Amino acid sequence: MSEMIHPDIVPKRRLYTGEEIPGIGLGTFGSDKYSSEEVANAVYGAIKIGYRLIDCAAVYQNEDQIGQVIQSVIGEGFVKREDLFITSKVWNDKHREVIGACKKSLKDLKLDYIDLYFVHWPFPNYHAPYCDGNSRNPDSKPFSVEEFMDTWGQCEQLVEMGLVRYIGMSNMTIPKLEAVLPLCRIQPAALEIELHPSFQQPELFDYSLSHNIVPIGYCPIGSPSRPERDRTQEDIADTEMPEIVEIARAHKIHPALVCLKWAVQRGQIPIPFSVKESQYIANLKCTTEDPLTKAEMESIRKADKNCRLIKGQVFLWSGAKGWEDLWDLDGSITK
Ligand SMILES: NC(=O)c1ccc[n+]([C@@H]2O[C@H](COP(=O)([O-])OP(=O)(O)OC[C@H]3O[C@@H](n4cnc5c(N)ncnc54)[C@H](OP(=O)(O)O)[C@@H]3O)[C@@H](O)[C@H]2O)c1
Repeated sequence: MSEMIHPDIVPKRRLYTGEEIPGIGLGTFGSDKYSSEEVANAVYGAIKIGYRLIDCAAVYQNEDQIGQVIQSVIGEGFVKREDLFITSKVWNDKHREVIGACKKSLKDLKLDYIDLYFVHWPFPNYHAPYCDGNSRNPDSKPFSVEEFMDTWGQCEQLVEMGLVRYIGMSNMTIPKLEAVLPLCRIQPAALEIELHPSFQQPELFDYSLSHNIVPIGYCPIGSPSRPERDRTQEDIADTEMPEIVEIARAHKIHPALVCLKWAVQRGQIPIPFSVKESQYIANLKCTTEDPLTKAEMESIRKADKNCRLIKGQVFLWSGAKGWEDLWDLDGSITK
């Protein structure tokens, strides 16, 4: 039997209701590289060694297989449903049919309810799986407050129907949040955004905390296995940043674990992906021991490079200048 990390000693975060949730979870996007079975096996192993938060999404095309292993760990009496915190996300092509999309995820995951359901991207724009970075969909449109609120309204209905406990937003910017938060009947519990040492998004991170929204950080290790479409020459590898490497040496750990310790100590929930048992055990365990010092945290804070990895260019609409348009870099919503 592999090492077990007792869930009680894993750091926690508090949602706006006061409920505690795990301060680290397991990602499940196989990056077009790992099969559904490999990811599902990792989810099974990860729950057995102490993970309780699993970050899923319909577009990862593995919820069915993940559902089978969730059913197994519950059936074996290893965990109860209420011990787990399972997220899922409505994909961009289902913004007008959120309830049907959520029911499909529930069926695949073999659950009666999802703990936290995200709007995956704030646009109804989608790309084919395995597409390359130059792929564009002629039907793509810029962000619309009206359309987004229609999608969010359907998410609110899911809460009222008891199919979902919390709802969240992902890939948002401050201008978009400013436009939509006052219109929400049910507030987002969490914001899933890209966060890692070379891309810290300090303004959005602070905005999220100050609005009682828990930041969940994706690509926490800098997504070294991300698909080709999400790579450019300028990208920085977090695990090779001199500050991270130096701290890793001092703690005698892999640089990936420095990224995760930093994330948890800063106050976001990292959701590292791995199908390798030694990695996912180390990723959970590192958050329970040997914290970074204040000086190390400060050295990482100063090392921010504003280096976004998931630029989202495949979601661009005709007339958009470049991927920057998805992220409202001039401070207002880009049309
Ligand atoms: N909301 C969104 O739009 C969105 C976008 C992207 C991702 N996500 C979520 O965030 C999760 C995490 O992001 P990600 O998978 O892109 O990136 P990530 O977690 O930063 O990187 C995962 C990769 O890091 C390596 N790794 C993991 N643990 C390691 C360790 N202890 N030592 C050394 N290397 C290690 C592995 O590479 P190898 O496999 O090569 O060993 C693994 O495939 C996803 O799975 C998904 O659930 C959400």
